[in-house]
Amino acid sequence: MAKNRVTAKVNGDTVEFLCETGQTLLDVLRDELQLTGTKEGCGTGDCGACSVVVDGRLLCSCLMLGVEAEGKSIQTIEGMASGKELHPLQKKFLEHAALQCGICTPGVLVAARALLERNPAPTEQEVRYGLAGNLCRCTGYHKIVEAVLDAAREMRGA
Ligand code: FES
Ligand code: FES
Repeated sequence: MAKNRVTAKVNGDTVEFLCETGQTLLDVLRDELQLTGTKEGCGTGDCGACSVVVDGRLLCSCLMLGVEAEGKSIQTIEGMASGKELHPLQKKFLEHAALQCGICTPGVLVAARALLERNPAPTEQEVRYGLAGNLCRCTGYHKIVEAVLDAAREMRGA
């Protein structure tokens, strides 16, 4: 079957790729663009491991088709650090040991950044609500929430 040619922006760079009509954005990122930081947990929109931001909106890349990325701007976990300088959220996750196996971590970080962009001073409850779509099976949520609150404080210069 003929493949579709798609042009999109990924982490600020214009990329072109070929994909099957039924190929998800998650599979395109991982298999066609070799951006394997975005993880597959469930493949059914339940776990948030595959979270990316598309045109400013947080969504599960396992629920979006690659062809739907045409003309869109996508942010993945690979675009979070600036060169070798980690994003404050990434630093705080390390400091608070807010990860264990790491499968959920990229999605949690992408969702946390989206949350802090909307709300730079979230309460603990707002952090928990903002990350409610991201399931972690092995760390528990307390350290994750602490890390996000600490990063938010640092980013506000508080
Ligand atoms: S892999 Fe997409 S929500 Fe779980
Ligand atoms: S660190 Fe393993 S699922 Fe979250």
